[in-house]
Amino acid sequence: MSDISNRKPEIGAFFARDRTWHPPAYAPGYKTSVLRCPQRALLSLDGTISEITGPVFGHSIIGELDNDLIHNFARPGESALGERIIVHGRVIDERRRPVSGALVEFWQANAGGRYRHRKESYLAAIDPNFGGCGRCITDEYGQYSFRTIRPGAYPWPNGANDWRPAHIHFSIFGHGFAQRLITQMYFEGDPMIWKCPIVGTIPDKAAIEQLIALLDWGNTIPMDARAYKFDIVLRGRRSTLFENRLEGN
Ligand SMILES: [Fe+2]
Repeated sequence: MSDISNRKPEIGAFFARDRTWHPPAYAPGYKTSVLRCPQRALLSLDGTISEITGPVFGHSIIGELDNDLIHNFARPGESALGERIIVHGRVIDERRRPVSGALVEFWQANAGGRYRHRKESYLAAIDPNFGGCGRCITDEYGQYSFRTIRPGAYPWPNGANDWRPAHIHFSIFGHGFAQRLITQMYFEGDPMIWKCPIVGTIPDKAAIEQLIALLDWGNTIPMDARAYKFDIVLRGRRSTLFENRLEGN
């Protein structure tokens, strides 16, 4: 997720990850990272052919309501509570080429900041019409789109009084396992972003801003939902192996 000029020497089929752009594995302000970070230096290995060429997904695995979190867990005729929004954008690589056929999965808390998970302990109410997860596949231009409600902020046991800003979790499978990305999206104008210990582990302010979706007034649907635009950059492919055919097919 970096600019080409900031990139380290290339190894293997994909560009090397820029570790100055991503948060460090060890970040004491984010308590969980202390025990789960690697204890030894990482080794760089060339990718195997299966890591370089897979996975590949077809549209047939996607259900009709998978990209509509307002309705995909709701009772017939009902819908999730909260501010209705559309989240959309492009999945591209570091060369700004669209990543078509990518599987984009997303999950989030409900409007009150509560996850539907049995280990969740926050006192905010569960919304019986909101499950909080969905998925879609990018089109030939790398575009994805889904409808949801804006998630609420929630507290978490890290420091004495830490809160997560409103956010949506993303998992993306691109054209090779090396392009796998798990990240979070935040909302433009939210002051909680700058108080979050997890956001605070990201060393570069520009990298944080890349995680903030902008209000997209032009794609707002009047009397229905506001739109937010969130583009996602995966690792770039170094080789031109698939230059002659549409990637992801
Ligand atoms: Fe979360």
